Amino acid sequence: MHVLVTGGAGYIGSHTVLQLLQEGHQVSVLDNFSNSSPESIRRVIELSGLSVNLHKVDLLDEDLLKATLVSAKPDAVIHFAGLKAVGESVSQPLKYYRNNVTGTLNLLDAMGLAGCRTLVFSSSATVYGESVALPLVEATPRSATNPYGRTKLHIEEMLEELGASDERWSIANLRYFNPVGAHESGQIGEDPQGVPNNLMPYVAQVAIGRRDKVSVYGGDYQTPDGTGVRDYIHVEDLAAGHLAALDFLRKSVGVHVWNLGTGAGSSVLEVIDAFRRVSGQPVAYEIVDRRLGDVAESYANPEKARLELGWKAERGLEQMVEDMWRWQKQNPLGFEADHLLEPTDEEIVAYLGRE
Ligand code: NAD
Ligand code: UFG
Repeated sequence: MHVLVTGGAGYIGSHTVLQLLQEGHQVSVLDNFSNSSPESIRRVIELSGLSVNLHKVDLLDEDLLKATLVSAKPDAVIHFAGLKAVGESVSQPLKYYRNNVTGTLNLLDAMGLAGCRTLVFSSSATVYGESVALPLVEATPRSATNPYGRTKLHIEEMLEELGASDERWSIANLRYFNPVGAHESGQIGEDPQGVPNNLMPYVAQVAIGRRDKVSVYGGDYQTPDGTGVRDYIHVEDLAAGHLAALDFLRKSVGVHVWNLGTGAGSSVLEVIDAFRRVSGQPVAYEIVDRRLGDVAESYANPEKARLELGWKAERGLEQMVEDMWRWQKQNPLGFEADHLLEPTDEEIVAYLGRE
């Protein structure tokens, strides 16, 4: 199958592109490199020994987007492209609505024009808002606590309405829990720009000595050790979930939703302990005030995905941390050494060593 992957140069996208190639799919990547580097795709090509069609396109450039989709004629689209920093979405909400919601609208128009109506969308457990009934099932009522989360909610609703209006569409809304880890080679992984917002990359940077200590946001939650509990999921398991969803959509129309999580939660202190064990490094931390908007606990009921997709997460916390640590050690500054900021088309072609 020919799969076009928006945001394919990013963290989850690059791992998914590698698995698609390894499963024999033809892959086109579409990215504007606003939060990634073509270096990730160069490494995916190296790891797979296969080729990728890389298009530097912004979802907000409607004409170029349509022309790209019409000429690529993909069988399916996996849509990762989006902005994801919760704090930034609060200070710049319109940037998030424009990029994520308008960007998705443009993509849907372009897909319709190209005759491609199979879509896997990156949603998020953030659509469960401040829901406290655990574990979270797909039928849990949705809400949003910040503009980023609201973009995901709006897009899910938009896709449901599209599916209801035209039965030719096959759509999967995948609600990710907390993606972490890296490919086992240590060649691709998460490369946050600036100070990481998320726990795992922050802890990894403390372990490698780039930062002094982890601020643990809250030690007085109603959880076993008082710190926040999350359902961390290995990015390789998450990527596999996309292939399983694609397979399902091949045989079925309509709009579907699945949680992609492990079903088990780990606390902040358990994550820090796992990093200490795996890295052999001291990881200093300090318990500080709770972070605004955080819930005490969040974890999935992943049964629906197991029953309908035959998918379940295979890797535990120890392996997530081991793989993340290998990536961090091999790339202490992420892709930065080779980072091309806002590359031109010519630079990308030269970079990938292709005509
Ligand atoms: P990422 O930032 O690494 O990847 C997103 C990619 O999209 C980047 O390569 C970026 O350059 C590209 N992009 C952004 N806007 C674009 C635009 N207008 N046109 C073209 N390309 C554009 O993020 P990620 O962690 O890989 O996340 C992928 C998706 O999964 C996002 O939609 C995110 O909201 C969602 N998600 C992520 C998490 C998480 O914790 N990582 C959790 C739940 C959901
Ligand atoms: N935490 C700390 N210190 C830090 C960072 C985080 O103690 O420096 C704690 C948080 O309070 C929380 C846990 O670590 O208890 C996990 O926090 P993350 O920021 O790593 O992840 P979140 O669960 O807050 O949010 C992430 C993404 C959201 C997404 C959500 C569900 O950032 O975009 O997972 O998929 F919506």
